[in-house]
Amino acid sequence: MEDLRTLGKLITDSIQLIDDSCTRRGVTFPKLEDPTTGLNDSAYDDLEVKQAVTNIVAAAAHITAIVRLPSDTLQSHGLKNHVSSAMGVLVRGHIVEILKPYGREGLHIDEIARQSDIDKNKLARILRLLATEHILTEVKSDVFALNRVSVTIDTGKSIDEIRAKPDEKYIGSSGTAAILDHITHHSQKSSAYISETLLDPKTAHSTEAGATPFNRSFQTDLTFWEWLELPENKHELRLFSMAMRGASKLFPSDAILKGFDFDTLPSGSVVVDVAGGVGSQTMILARAHPQLKYVIQDRAALAGEMQEFWKAEYADGLTGGKVSFQAIDIFSEQPIKDASVFFMRMILHDWSDTKCITILKHLRAAAQPSTKLLILEVLLAYAVPSASSDAKGLEAATTPPAPLLLNAGHGGVLPHFYDLTMMIGMNGAQERTLDHFNALLAASGWKIESVHKQPYYVNGHSQIVAVPV
Ligand SMILES: C[S@@+](CC[C@H](N)C(=O)[O-])C[C@H]1O[C@@H](n2cnc3c(N)ncnc32)[C@H](O)[C@@H]1O
Repeated sequence: MEDLRTLGKLITDSIQLIDDSCTRRGVTFPKLEDPTTGLNDSAYDDLEVKQAVTNIVAAAAHITAIVRLPSDTLQSHGLKNHVSSAMGVLVRGHIVEILKPYGREGLHIDEIARQSDIDKNKLARILRLLATEHILTEVKSDVFALNRVSVTIDTGKSIDEIRAKPDEKYIGSSGTAAILDHITHHSQKSSAYISETLLDPKTAHSTEAGATPFNRSFQTDLTFWEWLELPENKHELRLFSMAMRGASKLFPSDAILKGFDFDTLPSGSVVVDVAGGVGSQTMILARAHPQLKYVIQDRAALAGEMQEFWKAEYADGLTGGKVSFQAIDIFSEQPIKDASVFFMRMILHDWSDTKCITILKHLRAAAQPSTKLLILEVLLAYAVPSASSDAKGLEAATTPPAPLLLNAGHGGVLPHFYDLTMMIGMNGAQERTLDHFNALLAASGWKIESVHKQPYYVNGHSQIVAVPV
């Protein structure tokens, strides 16, 4: 009972804190039923509110686990795939765009079924499950409306526009709908094969690229990337790249600036964005520190896209050689030998430990004694204290109040979902703990100098600063 009372008080105290913060700042906390508020509501522009929200989410799930009958808890988690499937219908059946014009009043199931051409009885059951999970509102029986959760997957297009050009549904949208389309289709279906893949002696310990749950689910020996490039998967490739763009907007974009102090570098120092894609992180840096020189390295195929991206967003960066592109293979010798900083964002999580060590060793061979290596990744947190949590020299991130788990339990579950998402598609790909990064760096001639961790209530990339040993 004591834990229950402590958790209950944490919830009421956190609600008071949110209320006080909103009153002080003259903003109102959005109503769940209100479909006019978007993803980035100003109510959340206060770190104390973010912390209170995470504490509430964690405490509510913890209380539920304590009080609920275990048999009900097991069924509820085991059957959760139906929520993902129902969300797949919401996004691929264009239900959000159908409901959008009707606001909080909502639309009767007869009309939703007519416009979407989905069986009325089945659709009603699907929408009712989503209303039960607070993803939609059932305004009155059989009348459904968007709320502030479901409205975030609105593409902004009318149902007629989507029907006329279905392949272009996500173009020009925020990308959130594309993410949901991808995760309720590829991720969910691949995830269903995790246990078979782990238990079948043929694949249980395989490091082969074609031995993933994705391969079983989609009945292919190709890697996810090769499969995406098949001519018949043109739509999938487009969907995936839009989903990735949408996903990057869900993270705070300035993790590169929240760690190593680039002002300490002499003017003209070389900063290398290793496998930097089109250079979205370099763009943030180049705007903040125009006195430095930047090289974006990636596969040759990205050269054109990089030029297009910079011309559209920050053409000045390309003038005078301040920012340049260099084609490389991260598994071969690193060509730049005078870098002050090498940095990699969301690269190591794509690769197995063996491949990561190869990448890191190439960077180490090219490093000067003063070169810094910055690694930007989501850090997995242990649920209980670990040696790394209090390791000397690491910047302490605040920890959730007891009796919440140290990783904030359900309030910090997303990195663990990302980790399994890596597992299903690419053999060896994974999110890692700080201990795990420490081991990879130690095996490749680097050591950690400092860690700039996101606090437990911010879902985003942390920054590890490493130096040559
Ligand atoms: C998840 S993206 C991250 C891009 C960028 N760092 C960012 O944060 O936006 C992974 C990048 O790794 C690049 N990549 C994959 N294999 C590579 C290789 N062998 N050599 C160079 N780049 C590679 C891809 O082209 C892609 O741009």
